[in-house]
Amino acid sequence: MKIYIGSDHAGVDLKSLIKERFGGRFEFEDMGTLTTDSVDYPDFAHKVAENVLADGESQGILICGTGNGMAITANKHADIRAALCWSPDIAALAKQHNNANIIVLPARFISPETAFETLEAFFSAQFEGGRHQRRIDKINI
Ligand code: RB5
Repeated sequence: MKIYIGSDHAGVDLKSLIKERFGGRFEFEDMGTLTTDSVDYPDFAHKVAENVLADGESQGILICGTGNGMAITANKHADIRAALCWSPDIAALAKQHNNANIIVLPARFISPETAFETLEAFFSAQFEGGRHQRRIDKINI
């Protein structure tokens, strides 16, 4: 599966670890940032959101310090459902109930090991459809 991944400076180290850990399983397209120099998270959130929308088979990972900036920005795009996740249970539900197409991680508040477990849960879970699809159909304004 193709995964568009992006971070700001606060998430760049975790982004590298994730690419290392899951590189054998997913095809990553890294939308930056590539260094710890200070950058603006919306620039990367928009890039990942635009690519996920353009390539309907793909999913996204966004990482910033708290995850909030990335989630708030990505969710401005209609049909992007970016879910801020910090535990495997929340991540599984973000896929099962919300059919999230971008998972957002808070790099400053999650260990790499928990981030890996959270991603594993997200990418292993299946959308349940049914009443959850009806609710998703009501999201866009
Ligand atoms: C950067 O210092 C920090 O503001 C950013 O990573 C993120 O947490 C914003 O929501």
